[in-house]
Amino acid sequence: MKSDLFSAGIIGVGSYVPGNIITNKDLERIVDTTDEWILNRTGIRERRIADDNQAASDLGTIAANKALKNAGLTPNDIDLIIVATITPDMNFPSTACIIQHNLGAVKAAAFDLEAACSGFLYALNVASQFIMNGSYENILVIGTECMSRITNWKDRKTCILFGDGAGAVVLSKVEKGYGFLSQYMGADGSGKNFLKISAGGSRLPASISTIEQNLHYIYMDGSEVFKFAVRIMADAAKEAIIRANIEKEDIDFLIPHQANKRIIEGAAKRLELNMSKIITNLDRYGNMSAASIPVALDEVLAKGMIKKGDIICMVGFGAGLTWASNIIRWAVD
Ligand code: UT7
Repeated sequence: MKSDLFSAGIIGVGSYVPGNIITNKDLERIVDTTDEWILNRTGIRERRIADDNQAASDLGTIAANKALKNAGLTPNDIDLIIVATITPDMNFPSTACIIQHNLGAVKAAAFDLEAACSGFLYALNVASQFIMNGSYENILVIGTECMSRITNWKDRKTCILFGDGAGAVVLSKVEKGYGFLSQYMGADGSGKNFLKISAGGSRLPASISTIEQNLHYIYMDGSEVFKFAVRIMADAAKEAIIRANIEKEDIDFLIPHQANKRIIEGAAKRLELNMSKIITNLDRYGNMSAASIPVALDEVLAKGMIKKGDIICMVGFGAGLTWASNIIRWAVD
């Protein structure tokens, strides 16, 4: 971090998950699967699904309003809104612009950032640069997803995994020594075909044929993503630890992207980190892509588990392939 006077840090957090719950038993009635298979292979018990009239911006707006309240700010105080999502309301305008309007954050610039499940951490890392270089005072970073809208509910390999939700944080200047101690991002486009939606873009515009082939839904090579994820979660966390000049024993909580309990356990083993320090909520929400980390963060804060000075490591991976991590010394009481 460049400034000797201040750091960039999180000063408010909020989240929202829709009320509709789909359990593994419900999925047994839709595809050829069992509660036991899903629980054993993923750790997921249930997931939330947005109402028909709810889009990513609606979920994100609720989470953002909560984060603003938690930070003690009003929409007028916000200079920039960055939304991480792979399920925008529409291709354009950005979901960030829609949320800006919903909030009435009329002074805020707004854009979307897409790094799939790593999107929230990418957005945090980008936003903190604007705080550090003095361009902006207060930035809303939102991860919001309606994964149910891009899920093929006939594909048992993917439909059991995902859920809808949103999380938001407010970034601002904090006391030197607090806030972001390190940040790390990476990508490997050679893995672009492991996890994707093929149709609907400029390569393969949507057509009756693409819809008949289900190419507007998520495609995933689960085992390739799994192998990558276990390795990269551990490596990315280690890199953030080195850059922050701390020891892994200094970490109070690790908040990983919530994709699969076995991925999280595998990464924890490689990191030699006790599972008691690792935050998981995927049993209740499944994989909410860019929303998974901020929702988990909001939940642990609501439980009063994190106090000022605690060291938190966030680490995620996703389509692209992408990955990102950071170390934060929690800055607020
Ligand atoms: O945010 C990033 C996004 N994605 C991920 O992080 C996902 C990463 N990958 C995974 O989490 C795992 O690979 C999965 C949970 C997707 C799959 O678990 P797996 O242990 O890798 O299973 P598999 O794909 O090797 O499949 C094993 C068997 C197959 O049957 P056969 O060929 O052995 O007869 C599958 O057809 O399990 C079958 N299977 C299922 N059975 C019941 C696959 N999905 C299901 C299902 N219910 N839902």
